[in-house]
Amino acid sequence: MKIFIDSADVNEIKEAINLGLCDGVTTNPTLIAKTGRKNAEVIAEICGLAGVPVNAETIGISYKEIITEGAELAAIAENVVVKIPMCKDGLRAVAYFAERDIKTTVTLVFNVAQALLAAKAGAAYIAPFVGRLDDISSSGMDMIRELVEVYDNYDYETEIVVASVRSPLHVKEAALAGADAITVPFSLINTLFAHPLTAAGIEKFLRDAGHK
Ligand code: G3P
Repeated sequence: MKIFIDSADVNEIKEAINLGLCDGVTTNPTLIAKTGRKNAEVIAEICGLAGVPVNAETIGISYKEIITEGAELAAIAENVVVKIPMCKDGLRAVAYFAERDIKTTVTLVFNVAQALLAAKAGAAYIAPFVGRLDDISSSGMDMIRELVEVYDNYDYETEIVVASVRSPLHVKEAALAGADAITVPFSLINTLFAHPLTAAGIEKFLRDAGHK
């Protein structure tokens, strides 16, 4: 399973690359706003850090706006993936970009029907949001298991990038479900390394070896 970093913070992304844990990057308008910088400028810098897919999201929601913005984003670097919110005009734009060999991610996916439409439009990736479904007492991971099954049924090549990932349990369940990738906030990366028995074990080894 690939691990993408859900961040627009260049330092976080550099650190994830150094750890060997950056198979891709996802950004969104909220993450870009946190940087206080312009979208195109941040995306260009991230694209230059590693040759991994870098998701850059369009803001407009009309077909014309999405096409214009998406083309501008795609022109920044070869590894840009144009991220487009799930909506009718968005899926028309996905088909437009697929015809031109420009990769897209359909974001804000919350059910199988939306995922099916995104795959049929030619999306390279979808971003189903598990945490936000959990927030409304619906199971985000049940959705992921369904999406994996449906895409397998029809051999769709669209990759499932599990998003709105909030805990190590989400990571484990995404892997068990067979998702192609997860996109995780950098803060979650540290928690993935940790286990109290690992910490206790290291502590004991150090003590027994006379290091403490
Ligand atoms: O990848 C989507 C992510 O940025 C949203 O996460 O925690 O705001 O639902 P969250």
